[in-house]
Amino acid sequence: MKLLVLGANSDIGSAIAGAFAKFEQADLILASRDMESLEKKAKDIEIRHSVKTKIIQFDATNFSTHQDFYNNLSPKPDGVVVAFGYLGDQKNAEQSFDDAKKTLDTNFTGAMSILEIIAQDFETRNKGFIIGLSSVAGERGRQSNYIYGAAKGAFTIYLSGLRNRLHKNDVRVITVLPGFVQTKMTAALDLPEKLVATPEEVADDVYSAFKKKKDIVYSKWFWRWIMLIIKAIPEIIFKKLNL
Ligand SMILES: NC(=O)c1ccc[n+]([C@@H]2O[C@H](COP(=O)([O-])OP(=O)(O)OC[C@H]3O[C@@H](n4cnc5c(N)ncnc54)[C@H](OP(=O)(O)O)[C@@H]3O)[C@@H](O)[C@H]2O)c1
Repeated sequence: MKLLVLGANSDIGSAIAGAFAKFEQADLILASRDMESLEKKAKDIEIRHSVKTKIIQFDATNFSTHQDFYNNLSPKPDGVVVAFGYLGDQKNAEQSFDDAKKTLDTNFTGAMSILEIIAQDFETRNKGFIIGLSSVAGERGRQSNYIYGAAKGAFTIYLSGLRNRLHKNDVRVITVLPGFVQTKMTAALDLPEKLVATPEEVADDVYSAFKKKKDIVYSKWFWRWIMLIIKAIPEIIFKKLNL
């Protein structure tokens, strides 16, 4: 198997790459912006799992480069993981349209731009799989992160539509909905310890969902139930909560 990981410098993305290298002996195409960091990650995975790796420059928000980026991949991947993301800061995004736009462009528009290109190839070949890292933050808007949440919510809906479109072509689309994960993205946040997963735990959940042919996976599992409760709170009460 040949797996393309977009945003492979992400802590969760590189853990997923490691899981596919370990369990599938997948050769990896690791793509992101920081090439120095990618090189270190690629060497580490090669040594640990004896797979081949390749590193390529990729910027999710440089939309006009996406077609050439994919055209230049040879051979084409069997599957793709979309792991890049930008949390930003809600208060900052409220004040700065540029920052709000960066949040939308990275988490949604960039993902859609590259996935439309890849989807067309997988659709023509009648094979492939797509794993998209969205977030439980996209399930209901909260004052503390609704701009990031809006971007992830759009990505979740996009992945749902893509799964519906590609089902007849035998192309699987897996939506990953992590809760809190201990990564560089959340390093500055004070998170409730009991609810925090490691990137490796998320990678195990993703790999297991891939093997079990699931469409949607919450990670960790209990977020499905937390979000069910959060979504069930009537708006008249929800709007008064400090969430
Ligand atoms: N951590 C959490 O609690 C959590 C929870 C729910 C969902 N998620 C989602 O899960 C995914 C992985 O999160 P993480 O915590 O593992 O992230 P992370 O460790 O903070 O890494 C994010 C990576 O995204 C890459 N990136 C940002 N902008 C990019 C761009 N324009 N083009 C290409 N790459 C770009 C960066 O790559 P370079 O280093 O190469 O610049 C960075 O290494 C993200 O989509 C995130 O939103 C995370």
